[in-house]
Amino acid sequence: MGILHLGHVSKDYVTEGSPVAALHDVNLEFQAGEFVALVGRSGCGKSTLLNLAGAMDFPTSGTVLLDGVNTSNLSDFALTQVRREKVGFIFQSFQLLPTLSVIENVELPLMLAGNKQARLLASERLSWVEMDTYSSRMPYQLSGGQMQRVAIARALANGPSILLADEPTGNLDTTTSELILALLRRIADQGNTTILMATHSMEATGKVDTIVRLQDGRVVDLTRVTQFSEGR
Ligand SMILES: Nc1ncnc2c1ncn2[C@@H]1O[C@H](COP(=O)(O)OP(=O)(O)OP(=O)(O)O)[C@@H](O)[C@H]1O
Ligand SMILES: [Mg+2]
Repeated sequence: MGILHLGHVSKDYVTEGSPVAALHDVNLEFQAGEFVALVGRSGCGKSTLLNLAGAMDFPTSGTVLLDGVNTSNLSDFALTQVRREKVGFIFQSFQLLPTLSVIENVELPLMLAGNKQARLLASERLSWVEMDTYSSRMPYQLSGGQMQRVAIARALANGPSILLADEPTGNLDTTTSELILALLRRIADQGNTTILMATHSMEATGKVDTIVRLQDGRVVDLTRVTQFSEGR
């Protein structure tokens, strides 16, 4: 069983008027260390799928198993723990806390998880993304690529099994995007972290193991770029 399994997953959003079917009968399974690109037109369901994968939202029908656990069956307490310890999120807009320094941003999730070595580990995470020399800077003093590296360090703070990235290079130039993609590739390989990345960029798909194409909430194509298999 993979780290993430979606079985017959459908998601309807109920708005005024008729419900919107954002995902329809999605069946996917991903392994530890697999780097996956989710592609497809705006509105096809990429962000919805990431939210379900990260237990930020739940399917209308079907099951999402994260590390073998059905996210729909968890108590609020267990959910908070799963989100904090198993899942890391990064976004197009980075979303660093503006009033906290670089190291404080990375330290926060460690402190929330009750880690006694939060400062030390935060510093180690920052060195993974080569941002340790910027520890005391404030987010506004960084470039976009540097902010995204800090956001990645923060997402990795608690050693998540799965990293969810929603258009992580959407606000970056080509060169910086390549740096971020190479970094994500390294994280998947070395940390054995599964990465699901929603992207519109064709360059991005060059670094991944698997490309999943969505269209109107359905998986219309799944390409294994590399011969990725369990126990690689
Ligand atoms: N909270 C919500 N309430 C109602 N409808 C929603 C909600 N979130 C998303 N949708 C709808 O669900 C569908 C899928 O949206 P989603 O955000 O997953 O698309 P996406 O592939 O991430 O698009 P983009 O590339 O523009 O980010 C869209 O039709 C969208 O309008
Ligand atoms: Mg989206």
